[in-house]
Amino acid sequence: MLKLPTKINPPSTDVNPNLHPDQANPNQKSVIVKLENVRKTYANGAVGLRDVNIELYQGDFKFITGHSGSGKSTLLKLLYGAEQATDGEVFVNGFNLKGLKGNKLAMLRRKIGIVFQDYKLVPKRTVSENIAFVLMAQGYTYKEIQRRVQPALKMVGLMHKSHCFPEELSGGEQQRTSIARAIVNTPPLVLADEPTGNLDPDNAWQVIKILKKLNSFGVTVLLTTHDEQLVRAANHPVLHLQNGYIV
Ligand SMILES: Nc1ncnc2c1ncn2[C@@H]1O[C@H](COP(=O)(O)OP(=O)(O)OP(=O)(O)O)[C@@H](O)[C@H]1O
Ligand SMILES: [Mg+2]
Repeated sequence: MLKLPTKINPPSTDVNPNLHPDQANPNQKSVIVKLENVRKTYANGAVGLRDVNIELYQGDFKFITGHSGSGKSTLLKLLYGAEQATDGEVFVNGFNLKGLKGNKLAMLRRKIGIVFQDYKLVPKRTVSENIAFVLMAQGYTYKEIQRRVQPALKMVGLMHKSHCFPEELSGGEQQRTSIARAIVNTPPLVLADEPTGNLDPDNAWQVIKILKKLNSFGVTVLLTTHDEQLVRAANHPVLHLQNGYIV
């Protein structure tokens, strides 16, 4: 079985004013994500989420489903701090996201791997460089970067494409590159917003298989999708959103 180079980063356990009380008790199963009575209203009055309560534990793999506009992306954006909740509390990895910015937000994001539908690769960088870039930005040494990039490529089956540019890759390969980039610093949580949205069923299933493998190493995975067939085949619990409510 393929292995990532180091252990998955555990959720932050520093004694920290932002630490949620549930995470302070080592005897409890570790809560990695918690939303309490969360509402999100955008500046133009559009409602993203209404009174959402969710708890995810370390090692969970959950799908978020729902029609277009039901609030799936909003939910993930609240978790990685791209949007702030209008009401309620959001806790991720021991951080309370209320007002979180600057260094603390950067610290939180280092512990979250994010995968988007449209890959968001840097076109003028090779596969390896796209993956290494995350580590360079975080001040990893050259040696450590070398040590991490190869296993991440191996994990997604792209060792043979490491010197290719994104435009030389298929959609599935681009998405697998973006997954390698998301996991190269071994985050305990991966958030994927419609990662299979642009892929055919075979490539979509490859992506799910990689995420399942990561989950088997203890990584918590939260993934939005419209694809009911994929959800059934993957056989993980589902959070369904309807008009901003979890139903
Ligand atoms: N930046 C924004 N400004 C204003 N309204 C927004 C913004 N982002 C999302 N919304 C609104 O919030 C609601 C939820 O949007 P969201 O993007 O979370 O839906 P979604 O479930 O991800 O949809 P899709 O499946 O199409 O991606 C929608 O009514 C949307 O129009
Ligand atoms: Mg969306």
